[in-house]
Amino acid sequence: MVAQSTVRLSAPGPIGHPLLGMAPAFRRDMLGTLLAGFRDYGDVVSYHIGPRWGPHPVSQDVVIAHHPDAVHEVFTGRRAISRRTNAFQVLTEFIGTGLLTSEGDVWLRQRRTLQPLFTPRRVAGYAELMAAEAARVVAEPAVAAGSTVDLHHLMQRYTLRVVGRALFGDDVEEAVPELQRLMPVMGDLALARALQVVRAPLRWPTPRARRITRVRAAQYAIVDRIIARHASRGDDHDDMLSRLHAARDPETGQPLSAEEIRDQVLVFLLAGHETTAGALTFTLYLLGRDPATQDRVAGGDADLVRAALMEGMRQYPPAYSTERLASVDTTISGYHVPAGTTVLLSSYVTHRHPDFWPDPTRFEPDRFIGQHDRPRYAYFPFGGGPRSCIGEHFALLEATILLRALLSEYRVEALDERLPLAPMITLRPAEPVRAILRHR
Ligand code: HEM
Repeated sequence: MVAQSTVRLSAPGPIGHPLLGMAPAFRRDMLGTLLAGFRDYGDVVSYHIGPRWGPHPVSQDVVIAHHPDAVHEVFTGRRAISRRTNAFQVLTEFIGTGLLTSEGDVWLRQRRTLQPLFTPRRVAGYAELMAAEAARVVAEPAVAAGSTVDLHHLMQRYTLRVVGRALFGDDVEEAVPELQRLMPVMGDLALARALQVVRAPLRWPTPRARRITRVRAAQYAIVDRIIARHASRGDDHDDMLSRLHAARDPETGQPLSAEEIRDQVLVFLLAGHETTAGALTFTLYLLGRDPATQDRVAGGDADLVRAALMEGMRQYPPAYSTERLASVDTTISGYHVPAGTTVLLSSYVTHRHPDFWPDPTRFEPDRFIGQHDRPRYAYFPFGGGPRSCIGEHFALLEATILLRALLSEYRVEALDERLPLAPMITLRPAEPVRAILRHR
């Protein structure tokens, strides 16, 4: 008997524009396009970016795996799946080669150097400064006076101060307004560049390349000021900067170059505040539109506060999608995936998979209370496998401390029914998230 092959040909999916493929659809409405693909084609969907025939990266195949089992496979199973995708290459152009963008041995060495700063025990040591910063938010004049505030700005300020103090011994106060201005500009430029069918080298003086160069320079100027302040204080706390200065290559004994240190500081400055600020903003918005649930959470225990945060990140995962590259021919859920295909995972879509999340658009923190029998990767706000988020414990602690402090003092009223989203590198609110906080 001849064994039947279970490998099917390519996954189904929409065709898109004859020359540009699905690039315009993704550029116009990323989340809507992803959700429509799942609705129309199911658990594995293939897309094409650029003309159907042509050399990579002008012509690009993308496969999106929505089912938790396939997500599991991609995150944990394969050595042949790398990060050398368009999006990570563009991110490297913007922020250099820190822990988020490095690969192979360089990544492993960086992760080993930095991991000790993020163990649960070490993170618990940051609780005090997190509580002090949360108290500062509670006492902010605009908040206490019941004025209309932008929850997103408020949360960015909190998470920047926390990450600055914990990792660099510096509340980075002076950089807050500038980073708030730069983040959407950078997100928009990066997404546009990643979806560009033909990408000119950055050294060509196109208007977009000039804008990117300006954003990069502004970001590194902030980083250089943080590094200079740290050096001038000369304190010897075991923070991230001290660790980076002390790190030696195990083979050559060489210290890290100034460039490597700058890249690492930039990655942590950005990855360490933007996502947590989003998680807090989205959760407060959902609570702010649902007074009964908010009162229950405010009067509840730590588990219920954490469940509200988890549910906020289910509906609005700040890292809403990530990519890998299949470096050899492979299969995903039985579909053939040729070498060179970009494999995309979207927590935003999988977190709405109706097989695992009944009534997915309902805000229901109780989904995260007690036992459940969902597969591990039905929920993955922090990614998975060896490259999962190094800051997960840090973010969860910092976010729950803020939520408890704020909700015990105030009732949050989110003023707008709609929450327009801007999916860029991370998922961000597209407009200010207006709210009034009233004393309880
Ligand atoms: C709610 C907050 C956060 C969310 C939702 C989040 C999400 C994620 C996700 C999904 C990844 C994996 C990306 C991928 O697989 O492509 C990741 C990686 C990473 N995150 Fe976070 N993150 C959060 C907070 C933080 C914080 C607070 C820090 C640092 C203080 C941080 C630093 C990093 C770094 C450096 C990586 C790269 C890790 C590696 O590749 O080894 N994140 N994060």
